[in-house]
Amino acid sequence: MVESIHGMGLMGIEAYKVDVEAAISQGIPAFDVVGLPDAAVKESRERVKSAMRNCGFEFPLGHITVNLAPADIKKVGPLYDLPILIALLKMSGQLSVQTDDSVFIGELSLGGEVHSVNGILPMTIETFKIGFKNIYVPYANCAEAAVVKGINVFPIKNIVELFDHLIGRRPLKRADPEKLTVTQDDFDLDYSQVKGQFEAKRAMEIAAAGGHNVLLVGPPGSGKSMLAKRMPTILPDMTFDEMIETTKIHSIAGCIPSGVSLISQRPFRSPHHTISPMGLVGGGTIPRPGEISLAHNGVLFLDELPEFSRQSMEVLRQPLEDCSVTIARVSGTLTYPCRISLVCAMNPCPCGYYGTGVKKCTCSQQSVMKYLSKVSGPLLDRIDIHVEVPPVKYEELSDYVPSEPSVDIKKRVDAARVIQNERFRNCEIACNAHIPSGKLHEFCRLSDAADKVLHRAFDKLGLSSRAYSKILKMSRTIADLDDSEEIKPAHVSEAVQYRSLDRKYWNR
Ligand SMILES: Nc1ncnc2c1ncn2[C@@H]1O[C@H](COP(=O)(O)OP(=O)(O)OP(=O)(O)O)[C@@H](O)[C@H]1O
Ligand SMILES: [Mg+2]
Repeated sequence: MVESIHGMGLMGIEAYKVDVEAAISQGIPAFDVVGLPDAAVKESRERVKSAMRNCGFEFPLGHITVNLAPADIKKVGPLYDLPILIALLKMSGQLSVQTDDSVFIGELSLGGEVHSVNGILPMTIETFKIGFKNIYVPYANCAEAAVVKGINVFPIKNIVELFDHLIGRRPLKRADPEKLTVTQDDFDLDYSQVKGQFEAKRAMEIAAAGGHNVLLVGPPGSGKSMLAKRMPTILPDMTFDEMIETTKIHSIAGCIPSGVSLISQRPFRSPHHTISPMGLVGGGTIPRPGEISLAHNGVLFLDELPEFSRQSMEVLRQPLEDCSVTIARVSGTLTYPCRISLVCAMNPCPCGYYGTGVKKCTCSQQSVMKYLSKVSGPLLDRIDIHVEVPPVKYEELSDYVPSEPSVDIKKRVDAARVIQNERFRNCEIACNAHIPSGKLHEFCRLSDAADKVLHRAFDKLGLSSRAYSKILKMSRTIADLDDSEEIKPAHVSEAVQYRSLDRKYWNR
């Protein structure tokens, strides 16, 4: 007798159907799981056996074989406990109901409780796409699964409850797709709290409007971290598709706050500088999304940039370019998306006061050079806007009038994004920062006067060809913020300012 139950597996941010087949034959009692199971799947045997016995079911005697099909993909994690248990109950005749239109997902405790698993959202989406009617998920994951409309989501606390529901003794209540809990705004953060720093705030606005990466350089306590943390408050609202994409990644990483269905706020990730390259871009034997993917559609903030290891900075190069990370493992190749705004902050030297003019820098020229050279050149190349954050003046700090609130800045950012959406309607580009070099002159056409300004700056300041394309893209964004189709001299002059630190600190 062979019974087959439907489950789901995960591959990157996508899910696929797994058929859990159970068969029993005469012979010495044994319980084998085949179909490329990892250690957690193999341990299912003990959990399922104990859960059945502790909940009053009989564990079938004989040689039991469980096969997880397709057999050529590695199965990871404890999520197959529940379908294995249902297959055994059916195979041994303890449960005789039709389950062809249902998918079961869940980890079991020894006592028969159903524990949460990672990746419920992508698995529910796939279940719906295939056309199943019902999905049974752990109670703790129910909010996440309920996002998918058009499928019955049943939250399960324990296997007795599930059994009673299946035989029709005590039907369970479906999760209500209308009652979605979304992540809440962090109303504590607002740009109105940042006093002074007009140039830096303007730079953050341009970055948000055109999708540019930013580097903030300044002495300790000047508000760099404050500026970065408030960036999500001026980014455009996420579309529903973006919310789903971001939530999928967080679902797989198992870091969705309990009871939350959907991540509706742009993520802000601020990993400590001791993070490993793998932690940053993802990896491990069972590849997990890294911080850059967890920041997908939001902000990745690298505070104290020179303290990050050279390798950590280097691994960011390709993902920043491609907006996705590909991780190759023996078990297969996975791709996680990572469309992010990168914000980096740093002091200009080990003591923090080099070139700031407020306090005397106590570092030797050599140690300043060494400190600055820790920032990887290729990473610097991927950051369009470099801005100095000087110490705040007393008059600014003691000013009782709040600065411009984030909502007002956001309105301008939103308007600039509308212009870009229209401009890039027929291409793959999302915003100005992503204009490829081949299309630079098509999208960033300068007026004659603006061209003269750039020409003069180029000769006078000795700008590099790299700086040239960045200035063009930034000018485009500044013109968009100004609602001007034409790029004017003022737009170019402002953009040139955001490249001055290159020469001041790095001689580039
Ligand atoms: N522009 C500002 N307006 C209001 N408060 C400020 C400003 N800048 C700094 N502060 C105050 O100083 C504290 C430290 O600021 P923040 O952590 O942003 O500095 P930082 O530039 O990141 O310093 P470090 O280089 O040491 O990381 C803030 O919590 C805030 O109380
Ligand atoms: Mg800081």
